[in-house]
Amino acid sequence: MNPLRIAPSILSADFARLGEEVRAIEAAGADWVHFDVMDNHYVPNLTIGPLVCEAIRPHVQIPIDVHLMVEPVDALVPLFAKAGANIITFHPEASRHVDRTLQMIRDHGCQAGLVFNPATPLDWMDHVMDRLDVVLLMAVNPGFGGQKFIPATLPKLLAARQRIQAHVARGGKPIALEVDGGVKTDNIAQIVAAGADTCVAGSAVFGAPDADGGYRGVVQALKRAAFA
Ligand code: DX5
Ligand code: ZN
Repeated sequence: MNPLRIAPSILSADFARLGEEVRAIEAAGADWVHFDVMDNHYVPNLTIGPLVCEAIRPHVQIPIDVHLMVEPVDALVPLFAKAGANIITFHPEASRHVDRTLQMIRDHGCQAGLVFNPATPLDWMDHVMDRLDVVLLMAVNPGFGGQKFIPATLPKLLAARQRIQAHVARGGKPIALEVDGGVKTDNIAQIVAAGADTCVAGSAVFGAPDADGGYRGVVQALKRAAFA
């Protein structure tokens, strides 16, 4: 069984209390902090940048997983690396030179990944498998939290998992398979069965803290539901 990581997206957190919010999700058993960067160009929304990453960095030990929804990509890579990002993922359509951007992320000491929109083919993976630490499949169109999970993501997860397994069978290093958008306790079992090992959850965690258990209640409920 793959270990399951839960990566709460701070897009749905209370931005006025962000330090407290990230400390609370770490204490609740979250594995990564998912950090959504939107530029009002690649996606129709505007969020947070390296200054905010730097500000939350001292509050948690767990990795910060920076999801860049920006175009162009390259200039932000050194800024986020310096701000304490551990993982940096980007959308291949948004970079002129995907291989170069992946290498740049690694050269800055971070793990690197590609993000696939619902209609983006997985073929982008094929020639850069050795440069990938993470593959992130969007289960919604990027830009907003709280959207509904697109079911076609499930067969796509299976296909991505097969490509990763074939890569490992050829002697390649394992690649994390992350899913982002609309993950809830009622669909996480299907998502994990289809091959995901890392689930982003924004509104599920921050939108509805468990009445008794707070964020810990939701994070643990997601982990339990994944293998139910
Ligand atoms: C969407 C973001 C997601 C989003 C997830 O563009 O990349 O990380 O915040 O939020 P939920 O879990 O609410 O769909
Ligand atoms: Zn995201």
